[in-house]
Amino acid sequence: METSQLIESFNQAGQGHVFRFWNELSPAEQAQLADQAREVDLSEVARLNDMLVRNSKGAAVDLTDLEPAPFVSLPQNGGDAAQWSAARAAGEEALRAGRVAAFVVAGGQGTRLGYDGPKGTFKVTPVLQKPLFQVFAEKILAAGRRYGKPLHWFVMTSHANHAATEAFFVEHSFFGLGADRVHFFRQGRMPAVGFDGKILLETKSSLALSPDGHGGSLRALDRSGALELMRREGIDVLSYFQVDNPLVRCIDPTFIGFHLRAGAEMSSKMIPKAYPEEKVGVFCSQRGKQLVIEYSDLPMERQREVADGRLRFIAGSIAIHVFNRSFIERMARGADALPFHRADKKIPCVAADGSPVKPEKANGVKFELFVFDALPFASNAVTIETPRADDFSPVKNADGVDSPQTCRDDQLRQFVRWLRAAGVPVAADSTGLPPFALEVSPLFGDDEASCAASWRALAAKPAVAPGLVLG
Ligand code: UD1
Repeated sequence: METSQLIESFNQAGQGHVFRFWNELSPAEQAQLADQAREVDLSEVARLNDMLVRNSKGAAVDLTDLEPAPFVSLPQNGGDAAQWSAARAAGEEALRAGRVAAFVVAGGQGTRLGYDGPKGTFKVTPVLQKPLFQVFAEKILAAGRRYGKPLHWFVMTSHANHAATEAFFVEHSFFGLGADRVHFFRQGRMPAVGFDGKILLETKSSLALSPDGHGGSLRALDRSGALELMRREGIDVLSYFQVDNPLVRCIDPTFIGFHLRAGAEMSSKMIPKAYPEEKVGVFCSQRGKQLVIEYSDLPMERQREVADGRLRFIAGSIAIHVFNRSFIERMARGADALPFHRADKKIPCVAADGSPVKPEKANGVKFELFVFDALPFASNAVTIETPRADDFSPVKNADGVDSPQTCRDDQLRQFVRWLRAAGVPVAADSTGLPPFALEVSPLFGDDEASCAASWRALAAKPAVAPGLVLG
């Protein structure tokens, strides 16, 4: 679109103020502003202004007819063990057939952690201080070796961390995965608006743009060509996880098998919430559909409801999903669309007179998509229970819960459990923590069975000790 047409379209949409300082800008600044303005879908902004900004009721989450969602219990909690092993076999078959790829959403800014850099570069393991990206890469590499089919891995970044993320992988030789197996793409951005619906300028020559939320991953997978690549490679299942959780089983055959056997379009893992205030979304049912209600949207009295001696809304979402490629295509191409959420934020911007504004309280609205909002659109959605200790210990906060310290401890406990199951007499206190740091590489073992198998092989050939480190 010509610049004059672009400016005219903004005028028509009541957003002409975006070009208020145009005549003061250098040609390079004008080009930058015009490029950013071209990214904006003005009709989408108008729709969101109507629905979420001017009519704040539109932003309210519908909490009527909420019931706890059904889930498949672990065998140790009453689930059918035969069903679990059949699921594992089905998932393994899909992996051997090369039908599965991994996908991490890594576009977030790690603000709560106070870490400057892509969160995936944060060092997380107890001894070797491997970064999150390396932990995932090695798990994906291990799965590829085990099933005889190297996996593709899609990594969603944001504008703020894309270049740094790619450079990190190049610097570390893609952690052994091969450059042709790791695919980076940026998520989309949305303009922030003031409470009057006007798009905010960050500077005279740039818009206040922010990432469109992890739900933006569905359309970004499509736009980036990732779905097309999957189609060409015969991949129809995507294993989705977040960048903050090194315990995640990036590729879990049992989970994939449950998804496939149910003919599900999207599946999820749950853990029983540890306490009502735990900051995880909750799986619910509403008029026959499954959905996740975010912790901040579910009133605390509902989160505290008890039935049969435990929390009624017990099923916590740990943001681990499996998607069918065809479902993502459908969601991304607009037949069904995720709803935007409104977040009121302090947004640094420039005032009408060009002076910078550093707000002390929320002065505008950001729009975000959440990936779990795809759930109600999915046919045959399955949710399975997973042991927290083997799938979830995120690094979110600098200290306290979900911090580097709690995550390190949870990794140590997991390594101790695996080694003990392999017959190694590792000492540990009553909480399962060993008196010294140790680390098991995912390439040595990434669960109890593979760790035990490697240990047996090691015992037979004691000269070689790959992947087991004491610190
Ligand atoms: C999230 C979930 C919550 C779940 C919890 C489990 C939301 C709104 N809530 O909470 O239901 O119980 O994880 O740990 O997601 N990201 C992007 N792009 C973005 C925003 C986020 O890629 O624009 C990625 C982040 O890099 C991260 C993940 O999404 O990997 C989670 O984002 P975050 O905002 O930290 O979610 P939480 O509030 O921790």
